[in-house]
Amino acid sequence: MSFLEKLNWRYATKAMNGNKIPQEKIDNILEAIRLAPTSSGLQPFEVMVITNDAVKAEIKKIAFNQPQITDCSHLLVFAAWDNYTEERINHIFDLTNKIRGFKNKGWEAYREKLLTKYTKRNAETNFQHTARQTYIAFMAGIAQAAFEEVDSTPMEGFENDKLDKLLKLREKGLRSTVLLPLGYRDTNNDWLVNLAKVRHPKEELFTLID
Ligand SMILES: Cc1cc2nc3c(=O)[nH]c(=O)nc-3n(C[C@H](O)[C@H](O)[C@H](O)COP(=O)(O)O)c2cc1C
Repeated sequence: MSFLEKLNWRYATKAMNGNKIPQEKIDNILEAIRLAPTSSGLQPFEVMVITNDAVKAEIKKIAFNQPQITDCSHLLVFAAWDNYTEERINHIFDLTNKIRGFKNKGWEAYREKLLTKYTKRNAETNFQHTARQTYIAFMAGIAQAAFEEVDSTPMEGFENDKLDKLLKLREKGLRSTVLLPLGYRDTNNDWLVNLAKVRHPKEELFTLID
């Protein structure tokens, strides 16, 4: 299958069969998430990788009992920084200097600009920005999962505050944004598996400005 055929093959799986995903495929999906671009390269989020059955069962209760939460192999929880801080911004700029092995005047000026701009803004505005970054990585994970022929279900259908409490995310300066159960479709029990994919036609979606 070509990449586009795989993107057509993927769908928001409603029923999973509980089969386990080989570690190599999980590693590839996580690497795609790690490689996702983010605004200024800040990567303002973390991802919890949950295989513990008891924890999955607790999460299902606060995710409208969606069965994929417990029938998946691995459950990813995307959690965005609750705010930008000097320490968080400096950390990635310092890491960049360390990895690249040099300091650059323009880059340092950019650091100062972000430090001034972001640390002045209120936490909610910053969280709205960090949360948006998680969706980019989320889609990278979804696409890589499809590439690996692993099923997934993008999910916003859960109670964020309760999940934050359950996983003690707020204590770490994080807030949950989206979930991604990864597993394998249960073809006999998934009502969506054989239904046609529905998307706006190209003419409605794209405006060509030649
Ligand atoms: C951000 C986001 C949140 C979603 N939340 C849920 C969810 O909680 N449960 C679910 O079964 N599907 C959820 N979906 C799946 C969408 O309904 C689905 O992607 C859309 O209808 C397109 O269908 P397809 O993904 O099967 O092509 C979500 C999708 C996205 C992108």
